[in-house]
Amino acid sequence: MGKFVVVNHPLIQHKVTMMRDKNTNTKDFKQLLDEISLLVAYEATKDLPLEDVEVETPICKTIGKKVSGRSVGVVPILRAGLGMVDGILTLIPNAKVGHIGLYRDPETHMPVEYYCKLPADADQRTIIIVDPMLATGGSAVAAIQFLKDRGCTDIKMMNLIAAPEGVKAVQTAHPDVDIYVAALDDHLNENAYIVPGLGDAGDRIFGTK
Ligand code: PRP
Ligand code: URA
Repeated sequence: MGKFVVVNHPLIQHKVTMMRDKNTNTKDFKQLLDEISLLVAYEATKDLPLEDVEVETPICKTIGKKVSGRSVGVVPILRAGLGMVDGILTLIPNAKVGHIGLYRDPETHMPVEYYCKLPADADQRTIIIVDPMLATGGSAVAAIQFLKDRGCTDIKMMNLIAAPEGVKAVQTAHPDVDIYVAALDDHLNENAYIVPGLGDAGDRIFGTK
């Protein structure tokens, strides 16, 4: 079974509370999402392999460490996932970014695919799929399958808030995928929204409601 990690550093908990507040405006909401995404990505990349390299300081030569192995690919699920990309790129500026367009059908809550563009070498990269909300898990399960169908074998999932139902769905369908979140909430309501959650993440990031 893949890891499920709630990155519950005090600063993250503080910032998530600010994001939940319905009075937090679009600008602050996006800035908080940038900050939390960077902090969760820090934890999600804790197991990146290292290699020794020689470096010459102003004093002497020494052996330092450098990240080695697979490069990173960040894949936001459109549209709300876009809000997590900047924070991760602050931490990993050389990561390439792919996009998967999925939306939840308002009636069935099932994911509908409308766009995909991945780095040409996506199958050689450590892929971090990002989406603020893991609700039923339908979108995440579909996005992971989509990447596996294109040869990706090293996939992690990063969310801001998860519902237990979504975590279970991803772990059942894709037990090889580790999940990193800033908060684990209580349940889904009758409209498959996360409770207490923060409402519609896409609308709050882009100010569309
Ligand atoms: C939201 C969210 C996830 C999905 C989560 O996207 O950003 O992609 O719902 O729900 P699930 O776990 O039940 O699949 P939405 O469909 O609202 O589209 P948007 O990002 O374009 O606003
Ligand atoms: N998508 C959102 O934006 N919010 C939820 O609570 C569930 C799905």
